[in-house]
Amino acid sequence: MPHTTAFARNQWYVTAYSHEVGRELLGRTVLGETLVLYRSEQDGTPVVLHDRCVHRRYPLSEAPTRLDGDRIVCGYHGFTYDTTGACVYVPGQKRVPRTARVASYPVVEQDSLVWVWIGDPALADPQAVPRAAHLDAPGWTTVRGMEPIDCDYGLLVDNLLDLSHETYLHGGYIGTPEVAETPITTEVDEGAGIVRVSRHMDDAECPPFYAESTGISGRIMRRQDIEYHAPCLYLLHSRVAPVGVLPEADGSDPGGFHTEITYAITPSAEGRVYDFWAVSRDWATDDAGVTEFLRGNNHTVVMQDVTALNLLQRSLRTEPDGYQELSINIDTGGLAARRILARLVEEGDKPVEKVL
Ligand code: FES
Ligand SMILES: [Fe+2]
Repeated sequence: MPHTTAFARNQWYVTAYSHEVGRELLGRTVLGETLVLYRSEQDGTPVVLHDRCVHRRYPLSEAPTRLDGDRIVCGYHGFTYDTTGACVYVPGQKRVPRTARVASYPVVEQDSLVWVWIGDPALADPQAVPRAAHLDAPGWTTVRGMEPIDCDYGLLVDNLLDLSHETYLHGGYIGTPEVAETPITTEVDEGAGIVRVSRHMDDAECPPFYAESTGISGRIMRRQDIEYHAPCLYLLHSRVAPVGVLPEADGSDPGGFHTEITYAITPSAEGRVYDFWAVSRDWATDDAGVTEFLRGNNHTVVMQDVTALNLLQRSLRTEPDGYQELSINIDTGGLAARRILARLVEEGDKPVEKVL
């Protein structure tokens, strides 16, 4: 089974960071649906509407479309929509055609992320949105960004589920020889759609990413515990500490440096994915120098992946259908993720029975 290309529609996807959604119109494309986002003046909640005016399909995220209170006024001929997508004004006549509306989408704003549901709205359960509380919890400092990549989202899933590539693609930043050399353990919760991949290194070189930010000068213990909530949310729980420094018996861990690396993998369109990335730490939280170092360093690492995946997608396009791959132990997590995604895609395709 090659990397995943089809979309699982009945799922929550991160469409923006909270700070990106305000009184300026923001355009995004998720699962091939063009969206316009803004924040309601009245109650502060994000609004997500289809980004095409029903009149002549003008993109509502583009100027001179503007907000009038909580209404959005198309910049071409003035069709005006409320937050539910209903058209409330057309120019030159009193009667607004009954069919004049744009789709509005279920939204959840949580942990500084704006999640959207593209599939059947009747199935959208806000409780099902996975948590990433460290992104805006007290005691944590986060740097973040988003890079679109011209590749199928399945290639980014493959990439993140197998961190052995850190040694080769990210050498000099976060990769050291021990990452690729240390075997992984994988656990799969098929029902919940969660894949866990762990790699624990007892005596490893400290990569510059951690050496320069934590001040550790010698060798380290390094734990990487991945928790992938298919399809969108990827959490990497990272702990580094000088060799021999273990958590206390009571579970506290004053000698360890904990970093939560978060990705949201949002399929934008065929062959295009939004790579939302964030690095949160519970150490040196007020140190602006560390913040800027991690922002720059992680951005470089993300761009190394972006470059590699753009290239990989282009080269896969020249392969014949049914091309062969050769998977090994490091791919166990990625293959489990492909299996779960295939199931979620299939479930989303089935006609859904509505409970009335
Ligand atoms: S295209 Fe929007 S009003 Fe004409
Ligand atoms: Fe990477």
